[in-house]
Amino acid sequence: MATNITWHQGHVSLQERQELLKQKGYTIWFTGLSASGKSTLATALEQTLLHSGISAYRLDGDNIRFGLNKNLGFGPEDRTENIRRISEVAKLFADATTIAITAFISPYRADRDAARALHEAAGIPFIEVFADAPLDVVESRDPKGLYKKAKAGEIKEFTGISAPYEAPLKPEIHIHTDQMTIEQGVETIIDYLLSHNLLDSQKIIKKY
Ligand SMILES: Nc1ncnc2c1ncn2[C@@H]1O[C@H](COP(=O)(O)OP(=O)(O)OP(=O)(O)O)[C@@H](O)[C@H]1O
Ligand SMILES: [Mg+2]
Repeated sequence: MATNITWHQGHVSLQERQELLKQKGYTIWFTGLSASGKSTLATALEQTLLHSGISAYRLDGDNIRFGLNKNLGFGPEDRTENIRRISEVAKLFADATTIAITAFISPYRADRDAARALHEAAGIPFIEVFADAPLDVVESRDPKGLYKKAKAGEIKEFTGISAPYEAPLKPEIHIHTDQMTIEQGVETIIDYLLSHNLLDSQKIIKKY
């Protein structure tokens, strides 16, 4: 633990930064089982926002484990540390007035709540999106062949098979990815952002 550290305040407040850059920053936090559609929706959402001239940046589970979190595994403590670091990074992006879009299984409610608390303490909106599909559906999708390996015992601590998933109790947005198309999923999120004054309707290009 670092001691003897002091926060150095900048000259530009969060509000002034948002006014200067004409954009609000916040975090859209996807959670859900593997193959529930987090990365698919996050990627499509990021594309729609960028094509509308809105700064957005995706932080995706596997990608982050190639770099920042390459020293972490999938046991409970490392999963918690994984999410803690992502929460901090997402908050930094959002503080810089970008829309941070995270796509992590983030199976523990307490970890997601900690991410939310971190944002709320900084006055930054946190939008939890539950990418939801039943286990039999995600098992049949299995785009990375992970469920097959997990069921064969080749992957330990796999969420939904040999590790728990704690579904959100009150997510801001709940998307049943087995009941709607990817485009409808993106539309649901954009509609939420528009109706909560988090996006400017004049900016949004309907690409979905
Ligand atoms: N309505 C839908 N929304 C999202 N994905 C869908 C939908 N219908 C089918 N899919 C398919 O489901 C799969 C979801 O895989 P994806 O990689 O997005 O999952 P993930 O939640 O990011 O998983 P992981 O946690 O392993 O990274 C893709 O093959 C996608 O094409
Ligand atoms: Mg993914």
